[in-house]
Amino acid sequence: MTRLKLPLILASGSAGRKALLSEAGLPYKAIPADIDEHKIIKDMNNSNPEDIALELAKQKALVISKQNPESLVIGSDQILVFEGHIISKAGSREEAAEKLKSMAGKTHSLISAVSVVLNDKILWSHSDKADLTMKDDPVFLEDYIQKSDESTLLGCVGAYKIEEQGKNLFSEIKGDIYTIMGMPLKSLLDYLKKEHGLKITKTGVIGHPIAHSKSPLIHEFWIKKNDLAGHYKAIDIAPESLEKSVNELIEQGYKGFNVTVPHKVAIMELCSEVDNTAKTIGAVNTVFIKNGKLSGSNTDAFGFIQNIRENAPDYDFGSGPALVLGAGGAARAVIYGLLEAGAPEIILTNRTLEKAQELAGHFSDLGKITVIDWDKREDALAGIALIVNTTSLGMNGKAPLEISLERLPQEALVCDIVYAPLMTALLEQAKARGNKIVTGIGMLLHQARPGFELWHGIMPEVTEELERLVLK
Ligand code: ATR
Repeated sequence: MTRLKLPLILASGSAGRKALLSEAGLPYKAIPADIDEHKIIKDMNNSNPEDIALELAKQKALVISKQNPESLVIGSDQILVFEGHIISKAGSREEAAEKLKSMAGKTHSLISAVSVVLNDKILWSHSDKADLTMKDDPVFLEDYIQKSDESTLLGCVGAYKIEEQGKNLFSEIKGDIYTIMGMPLKSLLDYLKKEHGLKITKTGVIGHPIAHSKSPLIHEFWIKKNDLAGHYKAIDIAPESLEKSVNELIEQGYKGFNVTVPHKVAIMELCSEVDNTAKTIGAVNTVFIKNGKLSGSNTDAFGFIQNIRENAPDYDFGSGPALVLGAGGAARAVIYGLLEAGAPEIILTNRTLEKAQELAGHFSDLGKITVIDWDKREDALAGIALIVNTTSLGMNGKAPLEISLERLPQEALVCDIVYAPLMTALLEQAKARGNKIVTGIGMLLHQARPGFELWHGIMPEVTEELERLVLK
């Protein structure tokens, strides 16, 4: 488990600095430090700019350290030096425009300083400088000013954000991106790693596309809840570059990652070992990296079963046959989970009959699977203990799942793995006639837990707070 021995406080309210620390995977609390910057700069009039930036960083950390003993307090500041003068943040859009125009075609410096304080004692400080030469392009500059919001023009000392459109203002940039963004982050991380045992557990999810993935929300929630040093990123990898990109993750020290469409099968080729569950399901969704080697597992069946165990604790998997609708990737995990949990029989139906027959053959060693025609799905309901929809029918934007539950026993449980919408028409119908239901969001949340445990050493909880966050 990668938790810092001492809690970390950022002595700043700056959104940019908070984003830098969060992005790096540091657990911290932010408390804005109220110091009289103008007075410090005035009093140090004859000092060099580096010393002034360092002093500001130290003062911020010291102020916060006073009220927060036994915490590592990070103070940070940035100053802009242009033609020998320290330039402050602009107070109005007009002032920002004037400042930017005066720097056009010329070079200015950004000096960022960071200081770490514990119990009123300065443990470490560091400053770094970047030199930026602005293009002399009045038309572009005017357009940039018009399009920039106040948080950029008034909130940043240079009135630009280098990580956004600001980078286009310059003809030459000499220096480190983090220094330009307001904090020499790399040096800070090196110091914390060396002196305070900081280890950042790097994790993520690979897929293509990946922007829609809910996994970053889930894992980042647990990382924060547990005060861990680590991050979980959505990583877009096109199928043709899977091997190369996975090797890059290994080189970057990743501890593991989740795998989603379209890589769940292809990743198996790159794994040194694949556990029995993943082998039987035929897909890997969770990878653990040790000594540069990948171990693959599949947690979808766990997620599906655990969701039912938590939300319908009285349901006995051995109580009767389960009707599984669909024969795609999700159905494989559901069938495996049900057979492992003791379902006496699975009745499988799919629009394309051959796919259902193929799946039944694949799992025949694990239990009894009876395939029926898609058109006969309602006829099968009479003796059923559980229905699971694993098709995409009923999902927002997709066709509805057409099925009348008239013949379904009252005690039967009805599950949908679709979670957008949370209450699908299938679940609404089941609920209206008094059947117990389990929604699909829990499968998504529970399948994430074993990966988190592998990487961080903590089995995380599924809570209502997390569910609300993911459904938002
Ligand atoms: P997943 O990995 O999420 O299971 P999939 O492998 O694409 O996704 O499977 C989708 C499932 O939904 C399949 O069982 C599919 O049936 P086919 O095998 O006949 O394609 C089912 N499905 C999708 N659209 C459907 C529709 N309009 N009617 C019936 N079943 C449908």
